[in-house]
Amino acid sequence: MRTDSEMPARAELSPDRQALIGQLEENHDLPDEDLKLLLTVEDPAVSDFLAERARAVRERVYGKDVYLRGLIEFTSCCRNDCYYCGLRRSNKKAQRYRLSAEDILSCCERGYALGFRTFVLQGGEDPYWTDQKMVPLVAAIRERYPDCAITLSLGEREEESYARLFEAGADRYLLRHETADRAHYEKLHPSDMSFEHRMNCLKALKRIGYQVGCGMMVGSPYQTVGSLISDLRFMQAFRPEMVGMGPFIPQSDTPFGDCAAGTAQDTLRLLSIVRLMLPDVLLPATTALGTIDPLGREKGLLAGANVVMPNLSPASVRDKYLLYDNKICTGEEAAECVNCLAVRVESAGYRLSMSRGDHIDHNLRKKGEA
Ligand code: SAM
Ligand code: SF4
Ligand code: FES
Repeated sequence: MRTDSEMPARAELSPDRQALIGQLEENHDLPDEDLKLLLTVEDPAVSDFLAERARAVRERVYGKDVYLRGLIEFTSCCRNDCYYCGLRRSNKKAQRYRLSAEDILSCCERGYALGFRTFVLQGGEDPYWTDQKMVPLVAAIRERYPDCAITLSLGEREEESYARLFEAGADRYLLRHETADRAHYEKLHPSDMSFEHRMNCLKALKRIGYQVGCGMMVGSPYQTVGSLISDLRFMQAFRPEMVGMGPFIPQSDTPFGDCAAGTAQDTLRLLSIVRLMLPDVLLPATTALGTIDPLGREKGLLAGANVVMPNLSPASVRDKYLLYDNKICTGEEAAECVNCLAVRVESAGYRLSMSRGDHIDHNLRKKGEA
């Protein structure tokens, strides 16, 4: 991320900065100038206090539970050409695979036995997965696992398609907005992709009744403090149930292969700010955060995150879903990741919850308590 000003490091948090963070916690908002300071200041005491307040807020809403989502990366084929992603259609080195409906159902079966109650089906925008094929798959998962949440992350589709999938039993949809700054969006994507269309998809998903997740990479090429403030303003207005945010990590066979990765520090700071702005949002400590820092996910939980998403894909395809270089957990089995994550979550002072982990409306909860 570009910083506009360099500040000397401080061990103690100054009262004015403490007050700013207090104001963010209290009002879930701050003027742009203050947000800019929190996003750029090189003061470890600011990040520490942001994380401390974010933890307090998260514990007030969700207690000590960390929700588990089973990620099934079911196709590495994609018709799009996003400049940052290893699955982009122009990457001739990418290994393409497509799980069958039976493969996906057996991932769910294995996941259910391991305690998962949310399945996330994620993939490239693969033209093979038309509604004709996707709807019966979602309906089959819904029928077999009525107590589970089904989350889809299939990229941009038409509103009718989202509606059919919702009717078939999908409850949640993850579609990162990637950036709320149109000029930035156009630097991350070729001209056949449209900022408007992505935003319209997000609105359509909300209209239909999905629990919706938006989000962005931290430290993506050309990102500025201004674009991050646009992201935060967008989230305040859109009010997503989930926010997916991880560091950008270059993939060597993409146009951004030589760009710098986002940092753990910037990602953690943003996780805390988002938690304070949207107290009840579901916030994953992502695999990308665990990739740039071996303790990234633990630090994410300590900065306000409350979700982990281990991989449920068959081990044979895991090293083919390479959005970025050096991705972790590509050699492990699902059970190994769950055990590994349970230890990590506990080491951060939290506990893995085996519930569906639905979004809790902070205001309704407050009213109920009143
Ligand atoms: N194709 C769907 C889409 O784009 O929404 C879902 C799958 S896509 C691989 C999921 C997310 O991966 C994207 O929204 C993007 O933010 C993230 N991603 C892609 N390339 C990345 C990279 N190089 N570093 C970190 N995250 C990346
Ligand atoms: Fe395809 Fe999603 Fe990767 Fe873009 S980010 S190339 S849409 S898989
Ligand atoms: Fe996959 Fe640790 S979470 S091995």
